[in-house]
Amino acid sequence: MIEPQDSEALAALARRGVTSTRWAGKSLVFVRETGSTNDDVREAARRGAEHGYTVVADAQTSGRGRRGRVWHSPVGANLTFSLLTRPRIAVEESPMLALAVGLAVARALDRFVDARAVSVKWPNDVRIHKKKCAGVLVEGVVREGLLDAAVVGIGLNVFARPWPEALAHSATCIEEHARESLSRAEVLVAVLEACERTIDAMLLGGSARRALVRELASRCDTLGTRVDIDGVSGVALRIDDDGGLVVRGDDGVERVVRSGEIR
Ligand code: BTN
Repeated sequence: MIEPQDSEALAALARRGVTSTRWAGKSLVFVRETGSTNDDVREAARRGAEHGYTVVADAQTSGRGRRGRVWHSPVGANLTFSLLTRPRIAVEESPMLALAVGLAVARALDRFVDARAVSVKWPNDVRIHKKKCAGVLVEGVVREGLLDAAVVGIGLNVFARPWPEALAHSATCIEEHARESLSRAEVLVAVLEACERTIDAMLLGGSARRALVRELASRCDTLGTRVDIDGVSGVALRIDDDGGLVVRGDDGVERVVRSGEIR
């Protein structure tokens, strides 16, 4: 059930900003309705907003998913938000940022549901009992070959609502599996805290990043399964240090896939 004060709690959180992080969501804006929070944050980045600036909306009129899909989210039931990062990394590294965020969402969900049920589907869907609960859309602003800004959009299903027929068998929400009642504000804080930790580790590089990749691999339900990613068919073997999926094709050759959609 959605708490009557749930939107108010988000608005109150935005007024004070997240207090338990160093940068993620310290500056937080809540809006009742917008086109897409990714567009809002991209525009704020253009005006100079800082690493960690976040916009969360009750409703998006043109929320989008990866590959130009529409992101469906009933008003007030879920979390639709975007986090600005200023990673200053090479564009080629951006898939790793999306993976780090997927892992962060999985870690955050562990607080509310049985962690054994939470997995990551490469590259960045987060699932509960193999049904999609969250998706991540990273959009970059490139300057001189580096990612000057990367807008991390997260759509996270929190409360149960009737799904459109097309999603009924493939989507789920936290409430369906939660141990206790929850609020969107506490879920948002948990995700932003987790994002800060995984993004920091990713940017630190070296052993911190490798540990992230190992954890991701241990939670990735794609490994060991047959995949077909934009024409590459075979068995997903492992995730490499840059977050690429290593696939052994039917011809026995191993190929690294850096982005795409698993069918
Ligand atoms: C996907 O799985 O395809 C990614 C979905 C990302 C949706 C979020 S909701 C907040 C942000 N604003 C958008 O328009 N999209 C992202």
